Amino acid sequence: MKTLLVTGGAGFIGSNFVLKARQERWANVVNLDKFTYASNSHNLAPLSEDSGHCLVAGDIGNSELVTDILLQYRPDAILNFAAESHVDRSIADPEAFIQTNVVGTFRLLEASRKYWLSLPPESKQKFRFLHVSTDEVYGSLSLEDPPFHENTPYAPNSPYSASKAASDHFVRAYYHTYGLPTLTTNCSNNYGPYQFPEKLIPLVILNALNGQPLPIYGDGQNIRDWLYVEDHCDAIYQVLEKGTIGETYNVGGLNEKTNLSVVKNICSLLDDLAPKENGSYASLITFVEDRPGHDRRYSIDCRKIQQELGWQPRESFESGLLKTVKWYLENPAWIEQVQSGNYHDWIHKNYAGRMA
Ligand code: NAD
Ligand code: TYD
Repeated sequence: MKTLLVTGGAGFIGSNFVLKARQERWANVVNLDKFTYASNSHNLAPLSEDSGHCLVAGDIGNSELVTDILLQYRPDAILNFAAESHVDRSIADPEAFIQTNVVGTFRLLEASRKYWLSLPPESKQKFRFLHVSTDEVYGSLSLEDPPFHENTPYAPNSPYSASKAASDHFVRAYYHTYGLPTLTTNCSNNYGPYQFPEKLIPLVILNALNGQPLPIYGDGQNIRDWLYVEDHCDAIYQVLEKGTIGETYNVGGLNEKTNLSVVKNICSLLDDLAPKENGSYASLITFVEDRPGHDRRYSIDCRKIQQELGWQPRESFESGLLKTVKWYLENPAWIEQVQSGNYHDWIHKNYAGRMA
């Protein structure tokens, strides 16, 4: 069985990927995570007895540590999920985004290149460095614009997307300059189990259950293309197994929704599954001050991965959202755990001024 070095595998998408990789016996996994606020070792509890999963606490920017891990575990591929990932935090405090997303990715690439060069010819030829990125690097669309495709020029608008764009460019440069066998995926908004409740969908579910306002930035007409996280994990695996080196693959859910309609969908699911006494959860919807530089619309043309690799999203938005809402209802201990620590400080910092 292959060995994968997964970075950021204690976060939302990374932990979903690692759980699936072990469940489906895709590979053994060495999981390197810095354990920032966004991580959660409880996500990986099902693997506590699994000798095919090894968790290492550390930073992708620590070249010495990464080199030691590569020499000790000799992975067949590196999958880079590790990142600072929340746009609002990147606006409030961009420094960590530069350190992890830009400097960290660069150092990971450099350690990977040295390791790759040391491999015997057959392993060297099979080695892959897969970088997990976002559609946000392409900027913002109007309603009339065609969806983002792999050749859409980069036009990042937030410190988060600028830092991811920079990391994508370094990955590209390591392929073209050094021949490192890289793959890049640019995916739309994910949702599903284990997502930290700073992002729209889990934030709205938890605020609704707590009787708190459901904050909608601006007019609520911004559009995102939503993908269920397991479909994203499948896409990453397909790209790893069958993707052409040096290429990028766009991954999307074919589910363009306005934020207001997403929030209303969540409210009506909760009205059915956990009805509150005094009317619909929709009465908690509150329009608040907009995000600065708020991208209007994201939309993904994912025909390349569909046609070349045969990937398709399995969940519709309706089925994925139902699974997600049920998961949050069924996991109160997880919710309590992630809402401890600095969570309330962040919520206060981000929303107190907007609501006024
Ligand atoms: P997340 O914030 O939930 O998790 C990120 C993980 O990376 C955390 O466990 C954190 O501890 C870890 N990490 C952060 N800095 C690190 C460092 N320096 N060294 C090692 N580990 C570090 O993020 P996510 O939503 O799971 O996103 C994973 C990746 O997918 C990111 O690269 C993100 O840009 C990309 N992406 C996310 C989405 C989305 O909708 N969430 C969509 C497209 C692409
Ligand atoms: P988010 O989940 O932060 O993802 P991203 O910014 O990466 O797309 O936000 C999704 C959309 O929801 C985005 O248009 C911003 C909006 N949003 C709100 O309206 N209210 C909120 O409280 C949050 C967190 C996001």
